[in-house]
Amino acid sequence: MRILSGIQPSGRLHIGNYFGMMEPSIQLQNEGDAFYFIADYHALTSTHDPAVLRENVRNLAIDFLACGLDPEKAVFWRQSDVPEVTELTWLLSCVTPMGLLERCVSYKDKTSQGFSPSHGLFAYPVLQAADILIFDSNVVPVGRDQKQHLEVTRDIAQKFNDRYGEGLLVIPDARIREETATVPGLDGRKMSKSYDNAIDIFEPTEKALRKKIMRLVTDSTPVEEPKDPTNNPIVLLYRLFASSDEVAEMEASFRAGGVGYGAYKEQLFQRIRDYYAPMRERREQLAADIAYVEDILEEGAKKSRVKAREVINRVREAVGMRAM
Ligand code: ADP
Ligand code: TRP
Repeated sequence: MRILSGIQPSGRLHIGNYFGMMEPSIQLQNEGDAFYFIADYHALTSTHDPAVLRENVRNLAIDFLACGLDPEKAVFWRQSDVPEVTELTWLLSCVTPMGLLERCVSYKDKTSQGFSPSHGLFAYPVLQAADILIFDSNVVPVGRDQKQHLEVTRDIAQKFNDRYGEGLLVIPDARIREETATVPGLDGRKMSKSYDNAIDIFEPTEKALRKKIMRLVTDSTPVEEPKDPTNNPIVLLYRLFASSDEVAEMEASFRAGGVGYGAYKEQLFQRIRDYYAPMRERREQLAADIAYVEDILEEGAKKSRVKAREVINRVREAVGMRAM
């Protein structure tokens, strides 16, 4: 079974990225042939400063390794080190109906947030399909917001197979973990960089982390009154870091009243701090040894490129070109 996922280097990582994509990918590296990459071609749709792009790629590589990606188990590389993926993007584009891309909500979301409506942004899901299909991937762990892109990938693969031969491209499945499909942000909406509601997993200092968590939006129920734990963002976030007994305890305490939201936020803060402490330490070690991180990415590119070449040649021949 080949497991594949990618993540854009678009700044700092938040808890939503961690539980939606990273942690499931890290768990899955023990269950098959794991392939994970940094989607820097995709990042060009929004990052236009070369120095920033380079910096973001480097930081994401460090973050992912610090969080537990094990280069002995998973192949890890930079998307742009395997340029065959852009060739496959073109070949897929020629079977992709405009309507399929016009229905994608991410394009509409991004342009309504002020991103320039470039062809790259519009064609983003075709590049994503190529990322997945060029490695004959079976399983793709992602958060719920990527569900539509996975459906588009399956559609494109099926269209390609209809035209050029059944079984030519492997049809992949999304793996979306229900419990963590959408992690809420400070304001209760989906946690996202774009909403200014994210808690970064590596906030610069403990103080900054506490300050963020204190910003969690709650209602004005007085301290002594009972509180409703259902869909409360403190409880929803606590659930990611605590056992079910501990969550039940917090919920009971909400219902009983007598404790203010500030105290629950403090409890959440301590959990998050302790959870990421070992990763933070590992992150510092990795940041001090960039050559090691670069080596992993280069080694990963070599390995993944072997597979990419095999698939691109299979596809070139199928469409009537010669293998290279
Ligand atoms: P953002 O919304 O902050 O821009 P991205 O779109 O770059 O995040 O998402 C990167 C990965 O993290 C994707 O796999 C996505 O599904 C996952 N992800 C992002 N936000 C969340 C969230 N709030 N809950 C669960 N998964 C998320
Ligand atoms: N679009 C994904 C995101 O925003 C990143 C991505 C690019 C990806 N290519 C992929 C995810 C292939 C899974 C598989 O998070």
